[in-house]
Amino acid sequence: MSDKLWAGRFTQPTDAFVEEFTASINFDQRLYRYDILGSVTHAGMLARQGIIATEEADTIIRGLNDILAEIEAGQFVFSVAREDIHMNIEARLIEKIGPVGGKLHTARSRNDQVALDVRLYLRDEVDAIALSLGQLQSALLDQAEGNLDVIMPGYTHLQTAQPVLFAHHMLAYVEMLARDAGRLHDLRSRLNQMPLGAGALAGTTFPIDREWVAAQLGFAGVTRNSLDSVSDRDFALEFCSFAAIMMMHLSRLSEELILWSSADFAFIDLSDSFCTGSSIMPQKKNPDVPELVRGKTGRVYGNLVSLMTLMKSLPLAYNKDMQEDKEPLFDTIDTVRGSLKVFAAMIAEMTVRPEQMEIAAGRGYSTATDIADYLVRKGLPFRNAHEVVGKTVRYCIEHGKDIPGLTLDEFRQFSADIGADIYDYVTLEASVNARKATGGTAREAVEREIARARTALEESAQ
Ligand code: ARG
Repeated sequence: MSDKLWAGRFTQPTDAFVEEFTASINFDQRLYRYDILGSVTHAGMLARQGIIATEEADTIIRGLNDILAEIEAGQFVFSVAREDIHMNIEARLIEKIGPVGGKLHTARSRNDQVALDVRLYLRDEVDAIALSLGQLQSALLDQAEGNLDVIMPGYTHLQTAQPVLFAHHMLAYVEMLARDAGRLHDLRSRLNQMPLGAGALAGTTFPIDREWVAAQLGFAGVTRNSLDSVSDRDFALEFCSFAAIMMMHLSRLSEELILWSSADFAFIDLSDSFCTGSSIMPQKKNPDVPELVRGKTGRVYGNLVSLMTLMKSLPLAYNKDMQEDKEPLFDTIDTVRGSLKVFAAMIAEMTVRPEQMEIAAGRGYSTATDIADYLVRKGLPFRNAHEVVGKTVRYCIEHGKDIPGLTLDEFRQFSADIGADIYDYVTLEASVNARKATGGTAREAVEREIARARTALEESAQ
């Protein structure tokens, strides 16, 4: 018998290069566990429905489990001639248990089989990634909680704007990742629909029980249209969209860590285990890990664009083009998992330099807005207050002073409304702690948000 399970209508063997060109076994072998799980369940359903005999199903299931053991022991020989993971396993099954193995593919096609395999595989990966996301959020929350007194400069346009708590800055990333986790949760519900039973495209003539298969495999339901079931890759696209946005968040954090760990900022130290040296400049400690994560964001975007482009002109239903969905999806999964893993550890081991941050926060007249707000409370319209403080800042620049260092007389040159209590408002602590409303940087507001984020994280882990 030929290695080709479809050789019947052919008179000539496949060209050797074409065989290699069309094969997917080198990358889709990672689906083996899900392919076998799907087949075991399918065989069970065929027997339950009286489509094959119970003994036949038992023999098939035993054979499949043996193949699983062979693969896990590294004894299985994957063959390019057998094209993909589905036919590698099926051909091996027939080799092992004889012609009865040929009954497994009853009421099924590789088109619905591959859709099932990828959904099962991606579902597990989604769950693992949701866990890693939670671990990174925890690490950020630990840094926030462990550095609650640390004040840093907040920036707009990368120019010093207003002082903020370092913890508040960490919480901004916790929020971004929480939205990522939400997107992952949403896409999982659409992913978790069972496509088997679509057959090649039109359904099957056999009295199958799709709902039973779905329940056995932990799906929430079955897909509702056979054509769509075999030609839909939205679940892969949604995952890659989630991944692109999440990596964009990690890339922004990477950029900040790279800046902060430079000698010019010196806000943080990354642990040696996440940095490398230079082969020529002995003094260097390079933040390779955040740089690489920032770089890998590009390939994750690329994978999303590949998939979108792959799907955009395909007529219904299955087309071989769709075999090209796997490498971008797998690469995205590997990149996201690696990036989250390394990031959680790196954030956990990062050390903060509070003095450096505080010195920087005091530069750039970062409490100027607080004087304007003070004057507004004395009755001045905000625009006039803005003008007064603008002049005060110009005076500071010309005289080489900072705002808290001005004498009361100096302050009062610009507005008679300024009293001795101004000094209660222009320190970094006062500026930060005045912003108490929900979402503000005051210590009490930040503490509330840390507690809230922790509870949300615990609830989502259940
Ligand atoms: N290896 C194929 C893929 O990944 C499996 C489905 C093939 N179906 C077909 N009719 N050629 O897309």
